[in-house]
Amino acid sequence: RYRKTIIAGNWKMNKTATETKQFAEELKPILPKAKWCDVVVCVPACNISTAVRAFKDMRVSIGAENLYYEKSGAYTGEVSADMLKDLGVKYVIIGHSERRQYFGETDATVSKKVHAALDAGLLPIICVGESLEQREAGITAEWIALQVKSALVGVSADKLRKCVIAYEPIWAIGTGKTATAEQAAEVCTAIRATIRSLYGARVARSVTIQYGGSMNPSNAAELLAQPDVDGGLIGGAALVPQKFVDIINAAN
Ligand code: G3H
Repeated sequence: RYRKTIIAGNWKMNKTATETKQFAEELKPILPKAKWCDVVVCVPACNISTAVRAFKDMRVSIGAENLYYEKSGAYTGEVSADMLKDLGVKYVIIGHSERRQYFGETDATVSKKVHAALDAGLLPIICVGESLEQREAGITAEWIALQVKSALVGVSADKLRKCVIAYEPIWAIGTGKTATAEQAAEVCTAIRATIRSLYGARVARSVTIQYGGSMNPSNAAELLAQPDVDGGLIGGAALVPQKFVDIINAAN
């Protein structure tokens, strides 16, 4: 195996601190002991401390859902990479389509955030994905390649090994409409080809590429069986301990 399989939950704006603790308690007895994949739970910033404590004795890494790229200063309401790192965060989602859609995230801010994360020693999960209009217009490949290249501007090969790419077709997020395994595989393979063109085959082989978008216990195995699909970034189904575990098992 050239690269890690990573199953990550993205809780989005869900669960209070109390519910975070409840989730961890429910997950603990059913989480498989064997380590065929890394398990990550990305939680709202205000619940990171609670999550770090609650998942401490479990093989679950904590992720954040966003960061701000400046080191510190007068940026009311924002959270820096160093602040996340200091709390015990390992991963951080960057450029999720919801942040691009509702919070003005652009390829330029994604790039700055990727650098901020890497500089602080966080592992960025960089999200890319096309809209339905773009898919229907036949520009998916170009669009995704542009997003990947933009996000990785100035990232060294050494640092690239710390990056995870998540392919999330926007039309599949929260819609119950999953990409077919073939569609997911096609784009994830294209993403690896883009990385290969920038960094060479050896580095490209080492990068984990996840699929996200309505992944659930019944479709996970087929999606994860695709050679270039190395994990999942899961929204809705990751909010339920048993469903999350079923997806972890599907990665085996
Ligand atoms: O980051 C996760 C994705 O947006 C997928 O969300 O599984 O609820 O469709 P979903």
